[in-house]
Amino acid sequence: MPSYTSFLSSAIGAFLLSSPALAFSEQCSTFEYPLSCHNKSAVANTCCFNYPGGNLLQTQFWDTDPATGPADHWTVHGLWPDECNGSYQQYCDETRQYKNITQILEHFNRYDLLDYMSVYWKDDGGNDESFWEHEWGKHGTCISTFDTSCYTDYVPTQEVVDFFQKTLQLFSALDTYTFLNDAGIVPSTTKTYTYAEIRKALVQDRHVNATIECTGANSTELDEVYYYYNVYGSAQDGTYIPAQPDTNSSSCPMTGIQYLPKNLTSTPVQNGTYKFI
Ligand SMILES: *[C@@H]1O[C@H](CO)[C@@H](O)[C@H](O)[C@H]1NC(C)=O
Ligand SMILES: *[C@@H]1O[C@H](CO)[C@@H](O)[C@H](O)[C@H]1NC(C)=O
Ligand SMILES: *[C@@H]1O[C@H](CO)[C@@H](O)[C@H](O)[C@H]1NC(C)=O
Ligand SMILES: *[C@@H]1O[C@H](CO)[C@@H](O)[C@H](O)[C@H]1NC(C)=O
Ligand SMILES: *[C@@H]1O[C@H](CO)[C@@H](O)[C@H](O)[C@H]1NC(C)=O
Ligand SMILES: *[C@@H]1O[C@H](CO)[C@@H](O)[C@H](O)[C@H]1NC(C)=O
Ligand SMILES: *[C@@H]1O[C@H](CO)[C@@H](O)[C@H](O)[C@H]1NC(C)=O
Ligand SMILES: *[C@@H]1O[C@H](CO)[C@@H](O)[C@H](O)[C@H]1NC(C)=O
Repeated sequence: MPSYTSFLSSAIGAFLLSSPALAFSEQCSTFEYPLSCHNKSAVANTCCFNYPGGNLLQTQFWDTDPATGPADHWTVHGLWPDECNGSYQQYCDETRQYKNITQILEHFNRYDLLDYMSVYWKDDGGNDESFWEHEWGKHGTCISTFDTSCYTDYVPTQEVVDFFQKTLQLFSALDTYTFLNDAGIVPSTTKTYTYAEIRKALVQDRHVNATIECTGANSTELDEVYYYYNVYGSAQDGTYIPAQPDTNSSSCPMTGIQYLPKNLTSTPVQNGTYKFI
């Protein structure tokens, strides 16, 4: 059994290297279209320009009790298309609310993605498949470039594979645990941190802030991070540009933020409370 760390790097290597060239064949010449959320006039082709969800957020969880994922790694929440003003659409295509994400990925032979998801894309209610269905059905179907009409020679559900692959590619480059650790921000039952120091640690070479969110009785426990991007071209194979959050609001206080260790003896209870949104 490899350690989680080596599992992580080998899993990333596997899915990045073995990924077949995306079958997405609407060719979006990257800089032919404006950066999402930055167009100065109407853009008709929403297969090469994400609209209205021009802000793509790679969102992550720190689930401590019940704990999910490795002790030293955050987990995936999803990839959300927000409009450029903080509003968002949801459940954009009722015909694509799939109840078989695992089978879809198996059908496309993407066991590499499933292996990775089984460690890093975990539901604190114990139902990973339901969580994946929810993330695709509520958010993924609202990413305009994943519309089935954007594909030539469309193979049913291929866009679902593209959604999970792209989310994991982004997530694998956003190692929140290490970003915080490098700034001396480590899980602790006694220490607390300030909003400013956590946000500063998350800037990295993105040169923009991330949004942090807190939970718990007094909303002091750090539990989520949202990394914003705008995109040139499609969500599948376009160029992601880090973006400032479209809001400065956060559920966390300015001081006294707790970054609790995961309680690894608390495992999710099947059909337990769903936290996902
Ligand atoms: C950006 O493109 C969308 C989609 O065509 C359009 O509705 C919107 O008005 C455009 N924004 C501006 C500032 O022109
Ligand atoms: C945000 O922009 C969308 C159009 O892209 C519009 O439908 C929505 O009402 C706007 N929301 C707010 C809060 O302004
Ligand atoms: C997944 O479910 C959809 C909708 O029911 C169906 O069309 C598709 O064939 C299923 N895919 C697999 C691989 O079972
Ligand atoms: C992050 O947000 C803070 C407070 O709004 C601001 O002072 C700081 O310049 C921002 N950092 C970056 C890299 O944008
Ligand atoms: C929440 O704050 C109240 C008042 O400061 C305190 O008594 C209580 O212990 C806090 N609860 C938690 C879970 O930190
Ligand atoms: C957030 O705060 C920064 C610094 O005060 C400001 O420059 C920026 O415009 C604010 N962003 C929003 C979306 O209000
Ligand atoms: C960790 O979880 C176990 C199982 O739910 C629980 O009994 C224990 O009290 C928890 N530990 C802490 C420190 O909360
Ligand atoms: C969890 O919920 C699903 C769907 O509602 C149900 O089929 C399953 O039996 C439940 N599992 C448990 C352990 O209660």
